[in-house]
Order: sequence, then structure tokens, then C-alpha cells
Amino acid sequence: MERVGPTDGYGGGMSMPRRVSRFVFAALLSLTLSLAVFTAAQEEDRASLSPAESRKAATLIMARCAVCHTTDLISQQRLPEDRWIVTVEKMVHWGAELSKEEAAVVLRYLVARNHPGAAAELPTIEQELAMSQPASDPGAAGDGPLTGLSARGAGLYARNCQACHGEGATGGVGPKLARNMILKNEGAFWETVLHGRGPMPAWGAALSHQDIADIHAWLAAR
Ligand code: HEC
Ligand code: HEC
Repeated sequence: MERVGPTDGYGGGMSMPRRVSRFVFAALLSLTLSLAVFTAAQEEDRASLSPAESRKAATLIMARCAVCHTTDLISQQRLPEDRWIVTVEKMVHWGAELSKEEAAVVLRYLVARNHPGAAAELPTIEQELAMSQPASDPGAAGDGPLTGLSARGAGLYARNCQACHGEGATGGVGPKLARNMILKNEGAFWETVLHGRGPMPAWGAALSHQDIADIHAWLAAR
């Protein structure tokens, strides 16, 4: 005779763990399902970031966040959206130089990339940037030569380049740019700045051609 009914005085002891395990199973299943839905939503979010926006966010992280700590400290996090909102706000408060619009694209990138369901091992942000297609060169044809404004270039340099190329462009992690021969070779300069080279990030997605011309003008006056 089988004893499985819950009303069975003796079988109760047997069925109890079974009921518990069924409950645990149901709880686990609904958790897994909600995680799956959550992850799918995150993936959708991520897909909603255009490649240009992803590149822009990764470039901003390298230029504005990696001033104080490695991008790995950021990349190793797996946080839900509310925690990313708090973290990015905190970093801006501590000194990360991001406009509201820049902070928003960085936030969307991090929420989509570094969510709790993300793989344990992601490529580094530097690798992701290097793997992504560089932006094409809008304006390279047709717009005519740009006139760089040195005064505007100073601020752009300070915010985007100084962390690696040093104050006054005298060099740091990146080479000295003041009086660097590359400034006279515009083709090489634009190629390097638009598309990046090795550890040097690509700026084509984050800066306009006018911005880059302004930085060039400022550098050429060092
Ligand atoms: C002015 C310096 C500075 C800048 C710029 C900066 N951070 Fe931080 N960040 C810190 C410090 C200090 C800590 C805490 C110390 C540590 O853990 O090394 C930290 C810690 C973190 C952490 C670890 C979690 C935590 O809350 O402690 C994350 C994630 C992070 N930063 C993300 C960013 C992002 C994203 C940016 C760019 C939007 C950024 N940081 C820019 C200084 C900075
Ligand atoms: C994250 C660090 C980093 C940032 C930010 C950065 N650079 Fe660089 N840059 C480098 C490194 C490193 C190199 C050397 C690349 C190599 O070894 O090929 C480099 C190389 C260059 C070169 C070529 C120099 C030469 O002698 O060939 C130019 C030009 C340049 N950067 C301009 C800029 C400008 C303009 C900005 C800001 C818009 C900028 N960089 C921001 C790291 C950086």
C-alpha cells in the first residue's frame, strides 16, 4: 500500500518534504522565469543602444571614468539599474566630467552590459571598443576644411585627452602631443584620433569633426 496522501497519519511525514520540495521547485521556477524575462529585457535594452551609442559610452568611460580607477573596476560589477543610477550619480558627484546627456548614455550602456544576469567574463571595455567598427567619417568629404578654434580646443582637450596625454599635452600614459610631428601630418592625426590606435581610444563617435579640429588647433599652438 502506498502512503502518499497528506491526510495519511503516517504518510504525512513522507509527503511533507515532498510538498516543501514542490514549493521550493515552484519558487525556483518562478525566480528563473523572472530572471529570464529580466535578462531578456536587458538584452533588448542593450540592442536598443546603437553601435555608435555603445562606442560613445565606452569612449566616455575610458576618457572620463578611467581618470581615477581602471575600467576593470567598472567592468567587473554586475548591478541592477537602480544601483547603476546611484553609482553613476555618485561618480559624477565625485568628479567624473559628464554632461547630463553623456551620463545618460553611459548609464544605458552599463545597465545593458553589466546587469546581474550578464556573463561572468565579459571582454574589457577597451577590447569592446577595439572590436567595434570605427565610425565612418561623416564630413570627411564635401564639408571643406574645418577651421579649428584653439580657445574651444583647450576645454575639449582637458576633458577628453588630458587624462592620458598630460596637462599641457606634455605626455603621460599617451605620448607627448605638444610639438609632436604628427600635428603637421593631418592625415595621420585624423586617422589616429577618429579611429584610435592600440590603447588610444577612437573618438569618431564621441567628438564632432569640429571638436577634433578645435583640439588640433589648440595642440598646434603649444
Ligand atoms: C574623480 C574620481 C573618479 C571618477 C572620475 C570616477 N570614479 Fe568611480 N570610483 C572612484 C572612487 C574613489 C571609488 C571607490 C574606491 C575604489 O573602490 O577604488 C570608485 C568606485 C567605483 C565603482 C565601484 C563601486 C562603488 O560604488 O564603489 C564603480 C562601479 C565606479 N567607480 C564607476 C565609475 C564610473 C562608471 C565612472 C564614470 C562615469 C567613474 N567611476 C568615475 C572615483 C572616481
Ligand atoms: C585612454 C588614454 C588616452 C586618451 C583618453 C587619449 N589618448 Fe591619444 N594616445 C593614447 C596612447 C596610449 C597613444 C599611443 C598609441 C600607440 O602606441 O600606438 C596615443 C596616441 C595619440 C596620437 C598619436 C601620437 C603619435 O605620436 O603618433 C594622437 C595624435 C593622439 N593620441 C591624440 C589624442 C587626442 C586628440 C585625444 C583626445 C581627443 C586623445 N589622444 C585621448 C592614449 C590616449
